[in-house]
Amino acid sequence: MFSNNIEVVFSEKEIAERVSQLAYKISSDYVNSKLLVIGILNGSFIFLADLTRCISIPIEIDFISVASYGSSTISSENVEFKLGLKTDVLEKHILIVEDIIDTGYSLHKSDIINHFIKSGAKSVKICALLNKESRRKVPIAIDYLGFDIPDIFVVGYGMDYAGLYRNLPYIGIINE
Ligand code: IMP
Ligand code: MG
Repeated sequence: MFSNNIEVVFSEKEIAERVSQLAYKISSDYVNSKLLVIGILNGSFIFLADLTRCISIPIEIDFISVASYGSSTISSENVEFKLGLKTDVLEKHILIVEDIIDTGYSLHKSDIINHFIKSGAKSVKICALLNKESRRKVPIAIDYLGFDIPDIFVVGYGMDYAGLYRNLPYIGIINE
């Protein structure tokens, strides 16, 4: 069991409500268009699973990987971009799904948006569950946002600390 050293920031219920609101908006914005939802691994896997199950239009789903924090809580400027996308992006609208946008380096330095545009995507938008605006180093426009949070390190609902806590069903902070 998870010990009581985790303070809840967003409960399962709060997350589920917000996720279904985002999915409703996405479903109506992309109705009658070819939508490819791309999750950034590993952090987005739970958010993407819940979000896409609330989306009411047929969509394609794929994943890519951008270097993670390792066991540190400090964001890295050295972003490793492992594309490995198996789905064709040509003529499709792409929605990139992130767990959290912090400094913005992962999305910015990987040049992921330009990459998909150059590969023939019709549009590229970003959906993030959380936004730490106060930590931003490079501008990132978030088209669909779950919640703004202050400069706190959160875990759960896909997000880890040193590889742990991704399976926590809610979002919280670790009290040492
Ligand atoms: P950025 O490149 O600084 O925007 O960071 C992006 C990635 O760092 C996110 O997609 C997360 O995987 C990870 N990250 C940033 N803040 C947190 C946090 O508070 N908890 C867990 N992971 C985080
Ligand atoms: Mg991430």
